[in-house]
Amino acid sequence: MNIAELPGDIKSMIEKRKRAFSYYHEEMIGEHGFLAEDETIFLDAAIALSLGKNILLKGPTGSGKTRLAESLSNLFSQPMHSVNCSVDTDTEALLGFKTITQNEGVNRIEFIPGPVIKAMEKGHLLYIDEINMAKPETLPILNSILDYRRMLTNPLTAEVTRAKETFGVIAAINEGYIGTVPLNEALKNRFVVIDIPYVQGGILKDVIKQESKLNNEKMIEQFVRLSSDLLVQVKSGIIPEEAASIRALIDTCDLAVYMDPLRAVRRGISDKLEEEREKAAVLNIASTLFG
Ligand SMILES: Nc1ncnc2c1ncn2[C@@H]1O[C@H](COP(=O)(O)OP(=O)(O)O)[C@@H](O)[C@H]1O
Ligand SMILES: [Mg+2]
Repeated sequence: MNIAELPGDIKSMIEKRKRAFSYYHEEMIGEHGFLAEDETIFLDAAIALSLGKNILLKGPTGSGKTRLAESLSNLFSQPMHSVNCSVDTDTEALLGFKTITQNEGVNRIEFIPGPVIKAMEKGHLLYIDEINMAKPETLPILNSILDYRRMLTNPLTAEVTRAKETFGVIAAINEGYIGTVPLNEALKNRFVVIDIPYVQGGILKDVIKQESKLNNEKMIEQFVRLSSDLLVQVKSGIIPEEAASIRALIDTCDLAVYMDPLRAVRRGISDKLEEEREKAAVLNIASTLFG
C-alpha cells in the first residue's frame, strides 16, 4: 500500500489524525494487513475518510471488509467502535441506553453511551457491520449523522450530540445475502461505495501466507487454484458465494497443516453448505486437486 503516493494534503490529514490519537489505547486500534490486487481500494478508502466522507464496503462474506476497516483504523491510528447489525439491532444498540445507578444512596438515571455516540464524541471511527441486516425502521436515525450535519438529537435523552471533526463512518454490506434488505436509497446516497471482491491469484497467495499457518508452498498453490475453481462454480450458480469465502479458505489452510487437505476442505468449506449437490461439487473440485 503506497501511502507515499497520496497527495500532500491527504497525507497531512492522515498525520493529523495519527497525532490526535497517539495517546490512545492500542487495543481499540485495528490490525493492519488488508491486501488487494487493486491498490485503489485502500487508497480511495483512505482518501474518502480523510475528506470526511462515509464509506460503504460492498462485498461477499469473508472478503476482507472488516479487515479493511481495521487497516484504516491502523493507518490513522484512530480507534474504531463497532456495531454488528442484526434484525434485533435497535436504537439502543446504536446510541446507548438508560440505566439506574446508585450514588451514596441516591438513585439516578444515567445514560450509557453506545458505539455511535462514543465515536461521535471522541472523533473516532464507527464501523457498522452488515448494515442491511438491521430493520429498515432502525436506520433513519443515522441520516443526520451521515450527512453534512454530523449531528444527532438523541431520542433517548433529547440531547444533541455533534461529531468531532475526525469522526468517520465505515459501513459494510453483503448485498443479496439471505436476511438482508436492499439498503434504503437515502441512506446509500450518503456513502461513497467501495467494492471488495474476493482476492485471487498472487495476492491470495500472500493473504494465505500472512494469515494462515500453512507454509507448504505447493499446497498453498493448490489452495489458490481451488479458490479460483470454486469462484468459477459460484459465478455459474452451482455453489453459493460463501463457498469461495477467503475466511473459510484460511481456516481450511490452517486445518491442512494437521490433516489431509481433502478432509480439511470438507471441514472448512463443503460441510457448511446446505445442499448435497453443492457439497459434492466442492469435493469434486478438491479431489481433482488433492486426490
Ligand atoms: N483482502 C484481504 N486481506 C487480508 N486478509 C484477508 C483479506 N480477505 C480475507 N482475509 C482474511 O479473511 C478473514 C475474514 O475477513 P473479514 O475482513 O472478516 O471478512 P468480511 O468482513 O468481509 O466478512 C480475515 O481475518 C483475514 O484473515
Ligand atoms: Mg466482517
